[in-house]
Amino acid sequence: MGRSGHACSVLGSLLLLLLLLGPAAAQKGSTWKTLSGDAPAVIAKGGFSGLFPDSSDPAYSFAVSNQDSAQWCDVRLTKDGVGICLPDIKMDNCTTISDLFPKGKKTYRVNGVSTTGWFSVDYNSIDLTNVTLLRAILSRTNRFDGSFTLVQVEVALSQYKAPAWLNVQHDSFYSQFNLSMRSYILSMSKQYTVDYISSPEVSFLKSLVGRVGRKTKLVFRFLDEGLVEPSTNQTYGSMLKNLSSVKTFASGILVPKHYIWPVTADNYLQPSTSVVDDAHKAGLEIYAADFANDFALSYNYSYDPLAEYLRFIDNGAFCVDGLLTDFPITPLEAIA
Ligand SMILES: *[C@@H]1O[C@H](CO)[C@@H](O)[C@H](O)[C@H]1NC(C)=O
Ligand SMILES: *[C@@H]1O[C@H](CO)[C@@H](O)[C@H](O)[C@H]1NC(C)=O
Ligand SMILES: *[C@@H]1O[C@H](CO)[C@@H](O)[C@H](O)[C@H]1NC(C)=O
Ligand SMILES: *[C@@H]1O[C@H](CO)[C@@H](O)[C@H](O)[C@H]1NC(C)=O
Ligand SMILES: *[C@@H]1O[C@H](CO)[C@@H](O)[C@H](O)[C@H]1NC(C)=O
Ligand SMILES: *[C@@H]1O[C@H](CO)[C@@H](O)[C@H](O)[C@H]1NC(C)=O
Repeated sequence: MGRSGHACSVLGSLLLLLLLLGPAAAQKGSTWKTLSGDAPAVIAKGGFSGLFPDSSDPAYSFAVSNQDSAQWCDVRLTKDGVGICLPDIKMDNCTTISDLFPKGKKTYRVNGVSTTGWFSVDYNSIDLTNVTLLRAILSRTNRFDGSFTLVQVEVALSQYKAPAWLNVQHDSFYSQFNLSMRSYILSMSKQYTVDYISSPEVSFLKSLVGRVGRKTKLVFRFLDEGLVEPSTNQTYGSMLKNLSSVKTFASGILVPKHYIWPVTADNYLQPSTSVVDDAHKAGLEIYAADFANDFALSYNYSYDPLAEYLRFIDNGAFCVDGLLTDFPITPLEAIA
């Protein structure tokens, strides 16, 4: 945490800005329309990734020390089977790998799609010692680029005193390299408390049912409607019509926020869909993804991220069970 000092002035102005957004008039007491009736959870994607590089130690430490949020880690495996938290399967998207290993570019099939870049499966964990994190979203500050090394999953689980959310975006990809994501995740969940495990792959989640602790929630992640889920060959859009089948292997779903409040091409908000009610009726929790204060918001929110969060949690009709965000402090403000 020695490095967090020089971040203070940036943090100070950011906090001030966020607090100036005004007090929220959210629900109080136990009247939340979540599945459990509890307040919705806030999940910090890669920690406070709106400010620090996603999945960096200060992103996690800052989110943990200042807020009551779950810490999301996108799990990737190295050649020697060590888990690291990284927001993208292409390491060149979010690290300095291409500078350290200029000849490391490879092309692999990722869920059937030919993908070129630098991949963790080509490196042993020790090779990555000097690789540092970069912001993946270029419009954000470059101030912390190259300052922080990669965070191993085990370090995240053992050090950060906060609920842990492990997202496994790819499972079948790693089996091509004889790496078992399932074994790795099961071994982590035996040694540490893992509160949530999410994946967009049905076969992966099914392989965990009954094998993880009773308190670990398995969450099926929906990707864009037209994409094909690799183990069933169904599109995510068609799977959404059969939530009772999802309930057989998951206790919750995670959906892009536009599944709930669609936005027109010219950026106006449409009426909400019935997906939150449908999920709750099927006995599934529903978490909404893709929140960040610096992403283009629908005009209906008048440039106010708080107004957006409130649409998802305090609209009189329904409330999602959690919000996945790069700026955890803002939804916490909306909930408080
Ligand atoms: C990391 O950098 C140090 C200092 O430059 C060097 O001695 C070491 O060999 C490097 N390690 C790896 C794995 O590249
Ligand atoms: C990293 O990937 C994300 C998602 O695909 C993309 O939006 C972003 O522009 C990429 N960033 C860089 C630096 O390549
Ligand atoms: C994976 O294991 C199989 C059987 O042991 C072997 O034939 C194959 O070459 C291995 N693949 C890789 C990428 O190591
Ligand atoms: C999915 O489609 C691919 C290619 O069309 C096929 O090879 C594979 O067997 C199918 N898998 C399932 C589970 O139907
Ligand atoms: C929903 O999925 C279940 C189990 O996969 C299947 O038996 C059922 O026919 C499906 N229902 C519809 C309406 O597609
Ligand atoms: C968003 O704003 C547009 C334009 O004012 C309005 O027509 C539309 O009904 C609003 N959408 C919602 C969901 O309130």
